[in-house]
Amino acid sequence: MTRETFKTIEWTKTTVRLLDQRRLPSREAYVSCSTHSEVAQAIEDMVVRGAPAIGIVAAYGLVLGLRELMVKQQTADYNDIDTLFSRLAETRPTAVNLFWALDRLKRLIDLNKQVSLPSLIERVESEAEAIHQEDREMCDAMGRYGADLFDSSVRILTHCNTGALATGGTGTALAVIRELSNRGKLTHVFADETRPFLQGSRLTAWELDRDQIPVSVITDSMAADLMKRRQVDAVIVGADRITANGDVANKIGTYGLAVLCRMHEIPFYVVAPTSTVDLGTSDGSFIEIEQRSSREVTHVGQYMLVPDGVAVLNPAFDVTPNELITAIITEYGVVGKPYETGLLAQLK
Ligand code: MRU
Repeated sequence: MTRETFKTIEWTKTTVRLLDQRRLPSREAYVSCSTHSEVAQAIEDMVVRGAPAIGIVAAYGLVLGLRELMVKQQTADYNDIDTLFSRLAETRPTAVNLFWALDRLKRLIDLNKQVSLPSLIERVESEAEAIHQEDREMCDAMGRYGADLFDSSVRILTHCNTGALATGGTGTALAVIRELSNRGKLTHVFADETRPFLQGSRLTAWELDRDQIPVSVITDSMAADLMKRRQVDAVIVGADRITANGDVANKIGTYGLAVLCRMHEIPFYVVAPTSTVDLGTSDGSFIEIEQRSSREVTHVGQYMLVPDGVAVLNPAFDVTPNELITAIITEYGVVGKPYETGLLAQLK
């Protein structure tokens, strides 16, 4: 059963209202953005995060930006519009859904250069709403295709947050987990806590618990031992970018899980909509990996975890090579190896 009792992203026509994910699980607080720069800041600060979610929010941010321009001018100045795109695009570099959504709106604007600014804004707003609605539908389809892969009840390990907090619908990997639960085929979920931002323990556990789906949070370092003790039947994760050859950028720690799955002969599935597939990038070595603030590693709130002045690394994502992936599940179905041809066929 999926109970949508919270709204991750709500478009009110004048603002985009976001559930502030930095405050979960202790508080359910909302942030309203009424300008494109407030939206950009919210993405950078991780008020909202997750690949499909940031694409949707950036699309609404562009609508707000165009409205800001309309207060100043009646006709469209394309340099000003480009500045809006640049501000929204510079927020986070790895998840391709952000650029996919912005490119889609850019193409629409280019096709509507002859229309007045108010009509252009109406069209861009409808497109942003369509991006949001389509994402909801893609989540449901991925859930069904992914759940079809399992014949009996399974114990799933997942990483980061890939649910209703990361998408416009029920999620990517979590949509599969939800559907397995709906079909009575889910024994248990192990949620990696996902250091350092703790999307697993703070967000995935919060979502699953609300839906009464049985979940245990584990520290990231426990996964190997659980697998060795045959407690995990499959690992299911999401993706931030899938390149033409099927390499997958996802939350830091994903690659380690894929290596562990190979060692323990456990299937490793990636679930992502085709808006996450980047056919323009040949392989994972070309993906820009976001480096986030060292403070996310050195502190939890005000509490210091690392001696002052000691260097830390904080890459937000890693790349899993395609050969470690059992299958990729999109809204069109299950893609197996070789991923080059399978992904291309789905995106035609
Ligand atoms: O840094 P985040 O929280 O935006 O990272 C999110 C992830 O890595 C998810 O696994 C990914 O976006 C895919 S799920 C929708």
